[in-house]
Amino acid sequence: MVDTDTFVPDAVAEIGDEIGDANAVIALSGGVDSSVAAALAYEAIGDRLTPVYVDTGLMRKGETDQIRETFDYMDSLRIVDAKDRFLEALGGTTDPEEKREIIGEQFIREFEREAKDADADYLVQGTIYPDRIESEGGIKSHHNVGGLPEIVDFEGIVEPVRDLYKDEVREVARHLGLDELVAERMPFPGPGLAVRIIGEITEEKLEVAREANHVVEEELEEYEPWQALAAVIGKATGVKGDNRVHGWVVSVRSVESRDGMTARAQEIDWDTLQRIQSRITGSHENVARVVYDVTHKPPATIEYE
Ligand code: XMP
Repeated sequence: MVDTDTFVPDAVAEIGDEIGDANAVIALSGGVDSSVAAALAYEAIGDRLTPVYVDTGLMRKGETDQIRETFDYMDSLRIVDAKDRFLEALGGTTDPEEKREIIGEQFIREFEREAKDADADYLVQGTIYPDRIESEGGIKSHHNVGGLPEIVDFEGIVEPVRDLYKDEVREVARHLGLDELVAERMPFPGPGLAVRIIGEITEEKLEVAREANHVVEEELEEYEPWQALAAVIGKATGVKGDNRVHGWVVSVRSVESRDGMTARAQEIDWDTLQRIQSRITGSHENVARVVYDVTHKPPATIEYE
């Protein structure tokens, strides 16, 4: 386990040495890794760090407000409202890999512009130890902001939590007094709700997915899942009031896992499932039914796309 009393001052001093008098930029994702890296770097170089949070419109409910509150003390914080640009870029795209690519490219475009505005020579990243192992082993490119170092021409990359495991990063987050929600929040993929919407991404599907994910996170907190989520997976017939509707099918998923590589679907009691069903079908006029996914990984993946 990390000794936070020594880790924090050492990391701050090291960041200060690496960056010197230059400017730096970091992409905040809302996750704990980039939050901790940003807090340490801000401690080291103050407003010469520009933390950039790009609101892609694919974020969880309340995520942007939470970022604003948590990092309010950083005068240089930049919150970029890019919702419309992401939706437009995604257009009617339905292929999962194409969607990921479009999101990645749009993100880089947004971030590159901000990095130039900030006149940043250094990129701070919240890469943690397991990310490095996975990237080095070629298992998957794991960065939320994949490709940034290659595309934007930085003088150096600073990775203050590169030797820590996830639970150690959480400890440092608590030590730094970062909002408990940031420290404890379950992992959320870089492409956001896009991997929880099958097919075309529309404002209505995003609305349904955002609210449903919020309900699931709230209702399943006590099960302490590795991840609990809701996905908009298609359309089916239902009746609402006196009318038949051809509405959205929302799939709820809750898994236990150590590292996300394999996972077990959790057994959830009937009352809880029914409460989730009732809240999600009640959250939007066009939700027709809610199903619970009992598939482990493998053969399923955790996310839907
Ligand atoms: P899968 O769906 O592959 O997910 O079983 C395993 C873990 O990885 C997360 N995940 C992603 N994280 N960018 C990310 O930053 C991605 O494109 C991505 N796809 C999946 C997923 O949430 C789970 O924790």
